[in-house]
Amino acid sequence: MREHVLPNVALIGFMGTGKSLLGQMLAQRWGWQFVDTDAMVEERVGCSVAQIFERLGEPFFRQMETEILHKLETQRQLVIATGGGAPTRTENVQSLRRHAVILLLSAEPEVILQRVQPIASRPKLASAPDPMAEIRRLLKEREQAYSCADLHLNTSRLSPEQAVARIEELVKQWKATRPF
Ligand code: S3P
Repeated sequence: MREHVLPNVALIGFMGTGKSLLGQMLAQRWGWQFVDTDAMVEERVGCSVAQIFERLGEPFFRQMETEILHKLETQRQLVIATGGGAPTRTENVQSLRRHAVILLLSAEPEVILQRVQPIASRPKLASAPDPMAEIRRLLKEREQAYSCADLHLNTSRLSPEQAVARIEELVKQWKATRPF
């Protein structure tokens, strides 16, 4: 059974929705630790996500991502920014649900395309002939995976400060609805 008040906050959602920036801002406000699973994979493997995809392949990256997510389960007061594809593995979602409130950040495809520049650092989009079509396709494909979230915020028209304030409200309301 899930703990009534979960110790961590996990941000999920597509690339360019604000997971890393807003996660860092939140962690700073709360005096919590910020962790970014992409950065942890990069540190463990010793090269960038783009290089991992190119040299070792996406399945290798996904396995590293899963292992790193499992390691976070025992930690407390973390704001976790996950990679955009993390919720596509059921075991990743199950792992997050054991210790974190899951908050989905979303944005419109046009906004995402602007925010993910330079696109070379985003292997899932850089390899596509039409990045906008690929964003739309992946969003559709991941709709179900992203629906695991407890909370949702569309960041398309919010400044980072507005988004952080809204996330704080959402988390507060969510906690208030827990029985203890
Ligand atoms: C991916 C998103 C990236 C990174 C990798 C794959 C995806 O993370 O994990 O390039 O499949 O959507 P961000 O969402 O942090 O950019």
